Amino acid sequence: MSLILLLHGPNLNLLGQREPDVYGHDTLEDHVSRTRAIASEFGFEVEDLQSNHEGELIEAVHGARGRCDAIIINPGAFTHSSWALHDALAAYEGVVVEIHLSNPDAREPWRRTSVVAPVSTGAISGFGGTGYELAVRAVAAKLK
Ligand code: DQA
Repeated sequence: MSLILLLHGPNLNLLGQREPDVYGHDTLEDHVSRTRAIASEFGFEVEDLQSNHEGELIEAVHGARGRCDAIIINPGAFTHSSWALHDALAAYEGVVVEIHLSNPDAREPWRRTSVVAPVSTGAISGFGGTGYELAVRAVAAKLK
């Protein structure tokens, strides 16, 4: 069975309460459950981690090397700043899908730079929770 690592970065534990006008009312658990459900339709297992700590996310990426077929990652604000996360993903050989609930390109100028994008297979932004379903479908298409 193929394994997907689903990673969420800082402040995403507050989904459902945090700026619902931007990020919606679904909780992190709602998004994780939705991802698991669609992944199981494709025969994928999902491991998930949310962390507010950069090092913890980096170690999770290291742990995925040689073990997970794909990483779906919403790096939160680390998207725009974490070159350490960039380097960790550069050392990962599988499929990487960058995902955002909002469309960072349509928001403040500082959100328009993603340091994760150059080391991702592709990105899905701006479709809220539907993005997780699209991300799993993208992984399935890439792994086929
Ligand atoms: C986000 C977008 C980021 O700019 C922001 O810092 C987040 C959430 C999104 O899912 O839309 O924390 O990754």
